[in-house]
Parts: sequence; structure tokens; C-alpha cells
Amino acid sequence: MVTSVTQPEAQKTGEQINDLRSFLAAYRAAFPDDVIEVDKPIDTNFECSAVGRHFEDLNKFPLLLFNQPITANGNVSKFPLAVNVTGDRRKLAFAINSTFEDVSIDWRKRVSEGKHKPVVIDRGAAPVKENVLVGDQVDLRDLPIMHIHEMDPGPYITAGMLTTFDPKHNIDNCALQRGFIAGPREIRCLLVSRSHNYLNYLAHQELGKPMKIAYWVGHHPAVFMGAHSNLGYPESHYATASAVSGQSLRLVPSETLGDDFLVPADAEFVIEGIMVPGKRALEAPFGEYPRYYGPQRMGEVFDVTAITHRNNAIWDQFLVGMNNNYGGTQEEASIYSVVKRVVPEVTRVHVPVSGSGRFHAYIQIRKTHDGQPREAIMAALSSSYMIKHAIVVDEDIDVFDDRWVMWAVATRSQWDRDVMIVPNCYGSILDPSTGERGLGCKGGIDATMPAPPRRFPKRLNVPDKVLDKITLEEYIGTERLARVPEQRDRKARR
Ligand SMILES: Cc1cc2nc3c(=O)[nH]c(=O)nc-3n(C[C@H](O)[C@H](O)[C@H](O)COP(=O)(O)O)c2cc1C
Repeated sequence: MVTSVTQPEAQKTGEQINDLRSFLAAYRAAFPDDVIEVDKPIDTNFECSAVGRHFEDLNKFPLLLFNQPITANGNVSKFPLAVNVTGDRRKLAFAINSTFEDVSIDWRKRVSEGKHKPVVIDRGAAPVKENVLVGDQVDLRDLPIMHIHEMDPGPYITAGMLTTFDPKHNIDNCALQRGFIAGPREIRCLLVSRSHNYLNYLAHQELGKPMKIAYWVGHHPAVFMGAHSNLGYPESHYATASAVSGQSLRLVPSETLGDDFLVPADAEFVIEGIMVPGKRALEAPFGEYPRYYGPQRMGEVFDVTAITHRNNAIWDQFLVGMNNNYGGTQEEASIYSVVKRVVPEVTRVHVPVSGSGRFHAYIQIRKTHDGQPREAIMAALSSSYMIKHAIVVDEDIDVFDDRWVMWAVATRSQWDRDVMIVPNCYGSILDPSTGERGLGCKGGIDATMPAPPRRFPKRLNVPDKVLDKITLEEYIGTERLARVPEQRDRKARR
């Protein structure tokens, strides 16, 4: 039986299939210096994260390919490990043929246009079925899964798209949800109670049935982003994966979960299994996005029944707690659409890494009325329980640069007049400053100039035409220029 999400649409003949490999090849061709291959053996137990951390200290997020990662079993893995595939806005923008500034808005636009639908193919045509391991053949510790931070209890799946189907309509749901490798065939997950996979878990619990579940790992970032779009419940994420990547997502029936449990045919790995509602075991502490360890808890247990993978499959891993570029970009589009409804003059939204990619929102508006900033603040703060602080700035402020947003706060706001504080809101349990009972305080700053006609000093400038004419390369020389030290020449503080 085929699920309702699969409305077959002919795959155009000769079309390049979107997968992780096609992305790597295209990205490497476009940005050869931003892809770094490490050929020496290196341990997935902290050593790979140390490399990621050193790059983060430099504020650089190259796509790293570790060709000889050492696994939890102590062997050099036959699978390479990719890190930072979605490591920064440039890669996300490249994946969906957008720009640094517009990537989050274009991501959302493609979701709402919904132009492409998934298609089901035969097992024999699916690359992810090139290798099929079932039952005792499976040992998760053979995969190069990273043990990232010191107090994590072991290796964690962090770029796994956890997929379940709702039992009433059989519609798929996909979300990034962490998985602790607790044994050769046991994963312990975190399904937060608001998540749609958790709603599916509760629905199975009510029916007294185990829940079929799969992780898929390693795919084209556009597919990944599409599958990870914020949607209503139940709504198909396979459909939005198709819409965002601009191509019908190829699906294939599972090996051990039945023909109507569909998984992406062009993923690098699929891990299949069962979650028995109520079966829980200790999971975490885990180094989370706010850069603190989240508490130990009872995690939902995923008993693995099969792994299928491509030949020379590439394992993909997020540096959770180190690199928050991805999470922020996802939030931006939702904030933008909510603010746009009340303040059509909104021009850009940025959720910066300085707020752990969740807590701060910088909102740029073309101000025409002094009431707009407060409307924008209220809309942004209510768009997601994650957003704690909204700062509204004028059009001349670059919202992608914390320095300029802070300059606007410094010179365009007076806090007795321009600050809004909203106590007792939903807070994130992973934000250590959130109070008891999960209540947090939200707030906003209007860091805009008065609406026109205004009396406000004019910002300094050097004439544009002179700036364009005088280049450093011409007057100082490319070679000498490269030797000028970066201003921050000390090691970033841990
Ligand atoms: C890198 C990353 C890791 C995440 N890890 C988890 C997790 O372990 N558990 C969880 O419930 N949500 C996690 N999330 C958040 C969910 O993936 C996100 O809220 C998702 O959109 C929820 O999907 P849903 O709308 O189907 O519920 C993570 C997000 C990111 C970006």
C-alpha cells in the first residue's frame, strides 16, 4: 500500500538527482577552499570535535570530510564522516540557489509554493538499498558517529532526520532529534513534548501499538532543509523536501517496517526500528545549542531492526552546541512571515549565532510610523517560544552583523522609552536562565530612529563614489594586505 503523500510524478529523464554527493561535488567546484579533506586517521571520540572547535574559534565553518574516522569500536571506519554540510548560510543558500541574505525567506517561499511531490521507486533502483544489514548484522558502533562534548555519555546521532508516520492518516513527519548510541542496536532519543514525532508517539501509545521509526542520514541539504520545515500537524515533510529541493523526493519502502513505511531512496544511510511507547532509559547530559549541557533524562528507546546504506556511504554530523548557524536560519523565515502580517514594512530578519541561533531576533524595518517597532516586537516574540529578545532596527543597519545592531541599540534607544518586557512566557528548558516551571521573560528593544519627517543626526559617511574608486588591493597590495593581523588575535575564550 502506498501512503497518501505519494502522488507519483515522472522523474525527468537525465535530471541530476539531488543527494549529498551531488551537493558535495557542486559545492566543491564553486568553493574549493571551503571544503577540507582530512586523510589522517582521527578519533570520532572528541578529536573530530576538537577540529570543529578550532575552526569555530576562527569563526570559520568549512565543510570537513574526515576520510579515516576511528569509530567507537576502535577501528578506522570504512565510511567517511562529513561535518558542517549545512554549517553556514553560504552553504544553505547555495543548496537552494538563493543568497546569503534571502536564504531563509526563499526556503519558506518554496515550502508554500509546494511545486514538487514525492515519488515512490522500487527497492532495486534505490541507492540506499545497496547494502542491507538486518538484526544481528547491525552494529551502530561501526559507524563514525561523533562523541562531541566531554560530558556527553557517548556518540550521538545529530544530523539524523527522525521519521515517523501518524497512525490515523499515515502521513510522514520528519525532525532533527538527537539519538544517543547506547548499544549495538539501541538508540535513546529526545522527542520534546511539543514535537510532532512525540504526538505520533502518544497516538501509538493510545492505540497500544509500537511505533515504527527511522533515521535517515546524509542527503542533499535542500532535501534536508525541506524535510525540516516548520509545518502544521499532520503534514508531510517529504512533500516539503520535494518542494524546497525543486525535485520529486524519491522514496522507497523500508526493509523491516513494511511497504507503507517509506524512506528516502537517495539518503546515505537509513536506520530502521521500533519504539515501544513507555520504554525509556537514561539519556544525556548532552551538549546542547545554548552551549550548556542539557540535563540527564529518560529518553525514548529506539530498538534498531535494520541499517541500509549506499556503497561508500558518507556519515553526516552536526556540531550541536558549537555551530548554531542552521537552527537560526530556520527560525528566521517563520518570524519574518509572522511580523510581515502586522508590519508589512519588515525588510529582513536575522536570528544570530550570538543568541545561540534561537534566542535573539534582529528585525529590520522601513520605518514609516513610530508604532511599528512595538508591533514588530510583539509579533516576533509570539512567533516562537524560543525567541526571547527582539531588537528592531532601521533599514541602514546590517542585521547580519552584531556590531551594527549593538551600535543601533547604543545610539538609537533609551530604555525607559524603548524597552518592552513581557514576564512569565514559555521559556526553553535548555536556557539555564529560565525560571522554575519553564517560565521565561521576553523582551524587545526599539533601536530605530524616529519616523520621518525626523530630526536626527545624519550618520557619518565617506562618499560612495570615492569608496568604490579607492581599493586596498590597489593602494596596499594583495600580498601585504593578507599579512595584516586580524583584530582579534587572541584565542577565543572557552
Ligand atoms: C541541530 C538540531 C538538533 C535538534 N535536536 C532536537 C532533539 O534532539 N529533540 C527535539 O525534539 N527537537 C530537536 N530539534 C528541534 C526540532 O528538530 C525542530 O523543532 C523540528 O522542526 C520539530 O519538528 P516538528 O515540527 O515535526 O515537530 C533540533 C533542531 C536542530 C536544528
